[in-house]
Amino acid sequence: MELTITEQGGELLVRAPETVQEQFAAGFISLPPAQRRALAEGIEAWMSAAGLDAVPAAMFFEAAGAESPASINPSNAITTGAAGQPRTNTMHLSNSATDTRPLPVIIQGGMGVGVSNWPLARAVSLSGQLGVVSGTGMDAVFVRRLQDGDPDGHLRRAMDHFPIPGVSEHALHRYFLPDGRARGAPYKGLPLYKQNVSVARQHVTILANFVAIWLAREGHDNPVGINLLTKVQMPNLASLYGAMLAGVDYVLMGAGIPREIPGALDALAEHRPARIRLDVDGASSADAYYLDFDPSIHWPDHGPDHGPDHGAPLKRPRFLPIISASSLATTLARKATGRVDGFVVEGPTAGGHNAPPRGEPRFTDDGEPVYGERDVVDLEKIRELGLPFWLAGGRGSPEGMRAALAAGAAGIQVGTLFAYCDESGLTPEIRARILAAVSAGRVRVRTDPRASSTGYPFKVVEVDGMPRQNDTRVRVCDIGYLRTAYRDADGKLGYRCSAEPVDAYVKKGGDVADTVGRRCLCNALLSNIGLPQERDEGAELPLITSGDDLVSLGGFLAGRSGYSAADVIAHLLAGASVTAA
Ligand SMILES: Cc1cc2nc3c(=O)[nH]c(=O)nc-3n(C[C@H](O)[C@H](O)[C@H](O)COP(=O)(O)O)c2cc1C
Repeated sequence: MELTITEQGGELLVRAPETVQEQFAAGFISLPPAQRRALAEGIEAWMSAAGLDAVPAAMFFEAAGAESPASINPSNAITTGAAGQPRTNTMHLSNSATDTRPLPVIIQGGMGVGVSNWPLARAVSLSGQLGVVSGTGMDAVFVRRLQDGDPDGHLRRAMDHFPIPGVSEHALHRYFLPDGRARGAPYKGLPLYKQNVSVARQHVTILANFVAIWLAREGHDNPVGINLLTKVQMPNLASLYGAMLAGVDYVLMGAGIPREIPGALDALAEHRPARIRLDVDGASSADAYYLDFDPSIHWPDHGPDHGPDHGAPLKRPRFLPIISASSLATTLARKATGRVDGFVVEGPTAGGHNAPPRGEPRFTDDGEPVYGERDVVDLEKIRELGLPFWLAGGRGSPEGMRAALAAGAAGIQVGTLFAYCDESGLTPEIRARILAAVSAGRVRVRTDPRASSTGYPFKVVEVDGMPRQNDTRVRVCDIGYLRTAYRDADGKLGYRCSAEPVDAYVKKGGDVADTVGRRCLCNALLSNIGLPQERDEGAELPLITSGDDLVSLGGFLAGRSGYSAADVIAHLLAGASVTAA
């Protein structure tokens, strides 16, 4: 079954005024998580009591019960393939070029900040699988590496290819230190993101993401992806445009509901303005706040037509949302603002952030969230959507691969195994120390429900004697990616993070209870990759995240002290009847 939409139809959809239903959904999304959970559970209980919970919701133009792959968002029209096989997407809005290359069997998961850096993504892509650069916090990584002298010249080589004139020169002038920083000198920071930031500030984000993708793609034509966190809203449009200027092939986004991103990708590919809704605590559903990004203001003489490619459209990357519930996949397939090309289905054993458990929160004696049956994704519902999907979370083994393929997945997304390979951005010291602890059976992975100010559970690696950020840290918020917008009593927007100094957070109307146990992930994650900020109290401490499977990585390690990305791929492909391209 194939559905098509005309170019004019696509345009109309993109420009159509926001519907009441969209306002309804956006208002819901802006509620605090506890309130959302309570509401969702109430509605579920209501449907169940009415005996309607098994009835698929119909689109407004369908007869009830008409659920089929054809009922998904018209801009996601598909060609159905054989049962369990990935389907080919045949529908393209005006600017989306057809990518006929085969889908990867292995996606190397995006790992922020800078763990899945360009050397890792490039190594994976060179092996014929999908290498993914994490774009989260990329601009901070970029300016810190420039201040460390860019010793191998990689950043500057890529900067020479940045198409917007003058931007690279300005960044070099402002941040590049040919001999690196003086010993113990702190890094110069970037202005913190807000709803509106200067063009110069956005240039750094565009450039940093361009550089990372350009380097990951250098010297080959295999696909490369970028991973961004939906929740880190404010830099995302600039990051996407930078990655697209460098020809990124895939965009993968989780940690939120990236419903508006497909439409933004369509717009950015044509250098048109893109807009996404900004979540604002305390705003009523009648008050809409937006993040606007207009590519044209970034080019001299107000237009990319003056650039080297004379405004030629950019490649529209494939978009793969990362989801942990089939309902979210259905919503995105039907209601996203443009084409969705498949899903990464991630379970709660995965490294990084996890979706919170569904239902009434329950905890182990150690305070870890308890996941249950309701958290198992209904793969039948995912298969019904007719789009390819990859399974993530504890799938990093030949058995994990086999099971995923048998379940109809196109393959697997793996993070933890790649996080400790030679090409990973984690410092060699941290990798060596954790791998030694794994071999000695002295490592533990804790799912910490409090550490991340996003409110999502976050996995933390614990090794006795290995320093990590804790409650003794003197709080300072000087990077700010996890700040969220709030509306103050005068109706003005402010920004706060529950890991910032407690007094400041409370002064901004935050609840003191929110601050308990929070870690400054921005600073800790930069320390993980060897870019710690220097403070009077000493350098910022790391905080490592990994999936639950880290503790069993010793089997794959088999006495070695290290391994490469190619080793990981060969290991995983043993579970699939395919070989690397
Ligand atoms: C060190 C590390 C950092 C991660 N950071 C991110 C991230 O920034 N964004 C994201 O979507 N997923 C992130 N993840 C999740 C991975 O992309 C991947 O889905 C997950 O690791 C798969 O499960 P596994 O850890 O069992 O292999 C991270 C995982 C690790 C291990």
